[in-house]
Amino acid sequence: MEQIKLTQFSHGAGCGCKVAPSVLEEILKNTGEHLASANLLVGNETKDDAAVYDMGNGTALISTVDFFTPIVNDPFNYGRIAAANALSDVYAMGGKPFLAIAILGFPVEKIPAEIAQQIIAGGKEVCAKAGVTIAGGHTIDSPEPFFGLSVNGIVAINNLKKNSTAQEGDVLFLTKPLGTGILTTALKRELISGDEIEEAVEQMATLNTFGSILGECDFVHALTDVTGFGLIGHLIEMCDGANISAEINYSAVPLMKGVKELAAKFIYADNTMRNWKSYEGKVQGINGESLLTLCDPQTSGGLLIAVSKRGEGDFRQLAKENGFMLETIGYFTERKSHSIYLQ
Ligand code: CO
Ligand code: CO
Repeated sequence: MEQIKLTQFSHGAGCGCKVAPSVLEEILKNTGEHLASANLLVGNETKDDAAVYDMGNGTALISTVDFFTPIVNDPFNYGRIAAANALSDVYAMGGKPFLAIAILGFPVEKIPAEIAQQIIAGGKEVCAKAGVTIAGGHTIDSPEPFFGLSVNGIVAINNLKKNSTAQEGDVLFLTKPLGTGILTTALKRELISGDEIEEAVEQMATLNTFGSILGECDFVHALTDVTGFGLIGHLIEMCDGANISAEINYSAVPLMKGVKELAAKFIYADNTMRNWKSYEGKVQGINGESLLTLCDPQTSGGLLIAVSKRGEGDFRQLAKENGFMLETIGYFTERKSHSIYLQ
């Protein structure tokens, strides 16, 4: 099989192909009345990770869909990453995914079927780890390849975690280092080798299963995952949804290897600036490097967790037991003029 570079087919990398928040807002307005359903516990009002529907027996169904264009050249890894990313939105609600349907598009004339096969195989491997069955799917012939999953999950309603319920005084944790947008952009432009994004690939293919454990913890006040809008964008959603503000200690924010150096050379994903344009009025104290890293669109990023001050010790213990050595990256305060302040 000749060397096919999957990323050369995609205009935007991974979650970087998400439309800008401001464009999304424009698209969604004036689309007509919502058919109100008393059973809908979470809709799209608070920009949460997934829809949640009360099944009436103390449990709720979590439903979400996520797909994107190739972020790495290796089809198997691309499939793994896309699957981990799609499943993440269920974990980010405190739930457990159980069923997935695949969405696949690829240029049938230009990419052999074996490549598409490997993409799906990668997706299946990650789903198997999560205990999720890919029970079907839909494939179309498309000039730009894309792959992802529609996922169903389940959560006890008492364990449901939203992105909009953080409280003043809560401390903030992040489970994966940032930089997938910068690193994959450098890869796409052939400025770094495939080896240099190995850490990023493994992080992106890592499941956020920790979220379903956090669902059972009362000291977790709010939960989301960091994806296309960058840490800043997803944190703004947390702040604005709860009408509070956050302070970030930038030096405590974990970055992937090589990210600082690439940022210093102004290598960043196209959507970084688009994210920033949507958010600049809401953030104070950001500078060159922190702008590029905190607005960096993440693909299959980590969980962003708001933990009560009292529960911080218990949380750190639980994180350790689950293989995370986490430092606080900031905390929530009363609502101020800006959503986020950087230190
Ligand atoms: Co999400
Ligand atoms: Co999503």
